[in-house]
Amino acid sequence: MLDKNVVKSVIDGFHLPDFNKATIREIVTIANKVEALTGEKYVRMEMGVPGFAPDKIGTKAEIEALQAGVASKYPMLDGHPELKKQASRFVKAFIDVDVNPEGCVPVSGSMQGTYASFLVSGQCDKKKDTVLFIDPGFPVQKTQLLVLGLKYESFDMYQYRGKDLIDKLESYLKKGNICNIIYSNPNNPSWFCLTEEELKGIGELATKYDVIVMEDLAYFAMDFRKDLSKPFQAPFQPSVAKYTDNYILLISGSKAFSYAGQRIGVTVISDKIFHRFYQGLADRYTIGEFGVIFVNRILYVLSSGTSHSAQYALSAMFKAACDGEYNFLETVREYGNRAAKMKKIFMDNGFHIVYDKDIDKNIGDGFYFTVGYKDMKGGELMYKLLFYGISAISLDTTGSKQQGLRVCTSFIQDNQYDVLQTRLAEFAKEN
Ligand SMILES: Cc1ncc(COP(=O)(O)O)c(C=O)c1O
Repeated sequence: MLDKNVVKSVIDGFHLPDFNKATIREIVTIANKVEALTGEKYVRMEMGVPGFAPDKIGTKAEIEALQAGVASKYPMLDGHPELKKQASRFVKAFIDVDVNPEGCVPVSGSMQGTYASFLVSGQCDKKKDTVLFIDPGFPVQKTQLLVLGLKYESFDMYQYRGKDLIDKLESYLKKGNICNIIYSNPNNPSWFCLTEEELKGIGELATKYDVIVMEDLAYFAMDFRKDLSKPFQAPFQPSVAKYTDNYILLISGSKAFSYAGQRIGVTVISDKIFHRFYQGLADRYTIGEFGVIFVNRILYVLSSGTSHSAQYALSAMFKAACDGEYNFLETVREYGNRAAKMKKIFMDNGFHIVYDKDIDKNIGDGFYFTVGYKDMKGGELMYKLLFYGISAISLDTTGSKQQGLRVCTSFIQDNQYDVLQTRLAEFAKEN
């Protein structure tokens, strides 16, 4: 067991004014420091780092591209043509939506894709200067808006599902100040998945109020309750793109393809939005076309394109997945197996799942889940568990109004389930 005095002195040393608001990186640093001082390992559940090696299809293609000399060449701003082509195929194969390769633009991770998308869509129309988050969500996206000087509104969808969600969204959209709606699906941190009816409702509102939906598919097809791994065959990854032309999809190489280190993803801009003229853009740049500004102005100034060799890797993985030669979900399905085991251990020790349902279905098992303990506040729970060698983050930082923690399944090792059980049992006995 950890020396509790050491844990306390490390936490106190951070002088955090409000522990509830401790960021992921602060928890990481606290846990690292305690580990270094005590020689004991935490059961690490705070950070969403992919836990598996990428498939050789990607690394081989990238190595070959490097050997062929792409490192010395600037990539095209709008991306390597083969990746654009394969991304468009991938969207057809796994979402069943048609989009022109032109609108499939490689980015340095979804992170850059959301930043650039917020930026351009926030400049389209002076009256629409606010992004609407369907929370809980990925906290860094709000930091992006802070950096950009854009406003945001948000609500916790915990009590708004089905028709209530659509009504709630409409109450914001009616005001006329919203440029984007953003959510992740499956959701970080809660792992909820929007239903087809909810996506249809969101799509219809986006069309009616002329707003762009940014659908963050960082955990593409990772709702393991269904097998979404078969190309050009139902079931498909559910998407708002089926219900509106006002969409931007953010597809990341990081989680589904375990390619986080190379910072690669694709921003998929609908054909309609890509070519749409916005007066706000024309006033600022003289050119008013969304896609042109996104690529030739914004990506140009941000990073002048995306790592050349990584584009070859993602392109090869998309191609193999579309050709039915590579099941990209096979390895990452293990996150779901881990979640099932971890949830059971938490529940056996008096914890409950906070976001537990997708309307009438139990939430799936995947990369994250959320836990609460009795009526303990999220920050207090996060603080206390650190003394028992368990690190996770409070839901507070994610825009959630619920009390509890986000647990990430990516780091747990096979030999740590027993440790988790022992530590949670000890915690439960003393709390
Ligand atoms: C919801 C969500 N969006 C985006 C990202 C970032 O993706 P990328 O690594 O492609 O920038 C993450 C990573 O944790 C995430 O959870």
